[in-house]
Amino acid sequence: MAAKPFRVGFIGAGGIAHTHAKNLLKVEGVELVCAADVNETGLEKFKTEQKVGKTYKDFKEMLAKEKGNIDAVSVCTPNGLHAENTIAALNAGYHVIVEKPMAMTSKECRDMIAAAKKAGKHLVVGFQWRFNPKTVMIKKQADDGVFGKILYVRVQALRRRGIPNWGVFGRKELQGGGGMIDIGVHASEMAHYVMGCPKPVSATGNAWTYMGNKPSEVVSQWPNWDHKTYTVEDLAVGMVRFDNGAMMTIESSFCTHIEKDIWNFQILGEKGGATFDPLMVFKDEHGYMWNEAPGFIPGDDQFALKMKHFVEVCRDGRTNESSGEHGLAVQQWLEGIYLSAEKGREVKIDELP
Ligand SMILES: NC(=O)c1ccc[n+]([C@@H]2O[C@H](COP(=O)([O-])OP(=O)(O)OC[C@H]3O[C@@H](n4cnc5c(N)ncnc54)[C@H](O)[C@@H]3O)[C@@H](O)[C@H]2O)c1
Repeated sequence: MAAKPFRVGFIGAGGIAHTHAKNLLKVEGVELVCAADVNETGLEKFKTEQKVGKTYKDFKEMLAKEKGNIDAVSVCTPNGLHAENTIAALNAGYHVIVEKPMAMTSKECRDMIAAAKKAGKHLVVGFQWRFNPKTVMIKKQADDGVFGKILYVRVQALRRRGIPNWGVFGRKELQGGGGMIDIGVHASEMAHYVMGCPKPVSATGNAWTYMGNKPSEVVSQWPNWDHKTYTVEDLAVGMVRFDNGAMMTIESSFCTHIEKDIWNFQILGEKGGATFDPLMVFKDEHGYMWNEAPGFIPGDDQFALKMKHFVEVCRDGRTNESSGEHGLAVQQWLEGIYLSAEKGREVKIDELP
C-alpha cells in the first residue's frame, strides 16, 4: 500500500533547502508543494531545480494560502529567523523541521517548544550528525554499557581557514555567533546524544575575533569573505557541566592556526572510551588494554536519514530523536558559552534569560 502523501513547504530556499528537498524526495510519499523566500532569484532557482509548484515572497502568505495543502514546513532561513518562522508555521497548524542551531537563544527555543505543544504538532530540530552511522555505532556501545558512566567528552569542530564566503554567516545579529554556533553545534549535538542527553547546568568559555574582520591574506578554500560585516568569533572554546557530573569541552573555529581541520569527539567513561575519527573503542578485555574498530560501517547519508526521520515522526509515529528539548539543551550551552565569554566567568544555565 502506498504511504499517505506527506506534503512539505519551505521557508528559505537557499543552500540547505536544496539539500532537504532532494532528500525528502527519497522518502516514499513525500511531495514538495511550495516555498517562500525574500530572494526572488534564489526562489526561481529552487522552483526550477526542485520542481516546487508554488512560490511566495512572503512566508506568512504561504502559511495562510496553503492551508490544507501542506502537512509540514522545513525552516531553512538564517538563524535569527528560526524562532519567528517556526512559531508561525506551528501556529498555522503544520509540523516543523527547523535547521540548526534551533534558534538564537534558549528563550526562543522554549517559545518554539511551547508553540508545538499548543498546536499539537511535531517539532524536529535539523541535527543530522546523530544519524551518522558512526555516531549510531558509538551510541549503541554507550547504551550497551561499554563505556560505563561517561565522565568527559571532548568535542572539536575546528577549521583552519573556513569562514563561509556566502550567506550571512559572519553577521552576529543574524546568526548569533561564528564557529561555535555554526559548527560547534553539530559536533556537540552528536556527542550529547551519545551521552544520553544529560541536562546542562553551567557553561564557561571564551571567544576571540582576530582574522575574519580583516581582508583575507592567504590562499584558502573560501577566500574573500565579507570582512566588513564580520562581527562573529573566529575561535571559541567552552566547557559545560551536566547534572550527572559529566563534563564536555568544545573547541570550535572558523579559522585558527592548526595543521588541518578537525571534526571529532572523544568519550571517556569509567569502563571504556571511544573516538569518532578514527572510529575506535578503547576498553580493558581479557586482561589487556583492548582497542576495537568495526569491520563495516554503512555509508548511509546522514542528511537523507534526518529527513526520513522527520517524515516518519510526523506521519508514522516514530519517536522524535531530535526534539525541541534536545535543541534547547544544545542552545543553553551555546548561549552560556557566549555569555560567559562576555562576563569573564562561569554562568549557570538557570541565569540565562
Ligand atoms: N544542517 C546543516 O548541515 C546545515 C548546513 C548549512 C546551513 N544550515 C543552516 O541552514 C540555515 C540556512 O543556511 P543556508 O546555508 O541555506 O543559507 P543561505 O543563505 O544559502 O539560505 C538562506 C535563505 O533564507 C532566505 N531568507 C532570508 N530572509 C528570509 C525571510 N525573511 N523569509 C524567507 N526567506 C528568507 C535567504 O534569501 C536565503 O535564500 C542556517 O540556519 C544554517 O545554520 C545547516
